[in-house]
Amino acid sequence: MTLQLLDVIYNRSSCRDFLDKPVDDWMIENLLEALRRAPSAGNIQPWHFFVILNQKIKEGLAKAAYGQNFIAKAPIVFVVCANPIMSSLGYGKRGRSLYCIQDTAAATENLLIAAEAMELAGCWVGAFNEEEAAKVLNLSHYLRPVAIVPIGYPKKKRGPTHKKPMDEVATIIK
Ligand SMILES: Cc1cc2nc3c(=O)[nH]c(=O)nc-3n(C[C@H](O)[C@H](O)[C@H](O)COP(=O)(O)O)c2cc1C
Repeated sequence: MTLQLLDVIYNRSSCRDFLDKPVDDWMIENLLEALRRAPSAGNIQPWHFFVILNQKIKEGLAKAAYGQNFIAKAPIVFVVCANPIMSSLGYGKRGRSLYCIQDTAAATENLLIAAEAMELAGCWVGAFNEEEAAKVLNLSHYLRPVAIVPIGYPKKKRGPTHKKPMDEVATIIK
């Protein structure tokens, strides 16, 4: 089991080209579970997750993301939102400006890994106009959209993305 999980992590890569094939409901439920089970500071879970199946809303999100049209072509689009106020109630400024962002980043990575484990794929999209995305989703004022994640079946087989060598990014101190 451990090796399989590591294989999934090692082989994950961003996908921006999806088959026109719907994603089953049981898969969507597992993806939501992966999001919900992420760690968060003080287990505050300062987040809300949207699953977008509506084509018009997907197109609105693609527009808010400066024309990244692969968002509109994905069968499902997740939007991960942070609730900075909820985090600030527990941890003040650090909760508002750091923990809620780290918490939602952990959830987003869980989502990508879970997708890969079910032979789906996705891409973490962070370049978008937050105000426009919030308007498209009619978000409550206390939610901040922090990641748009289109998910689907990859059109082509992909390999792992090139990464910097280990000695450049990690140090073991004995
Ligand atoms: C915070 C963040 C924001 C990102 N924003 C975008 C984006 O707006 N558009 C996009 O196509 N990819 C985006 N990516 C995906 C990265 O380009 C991708 O993860 C990186 O090139 C490494 O490739 P890999 O995911 O295949 O390992 C983003 C990734 C992260 C973590």
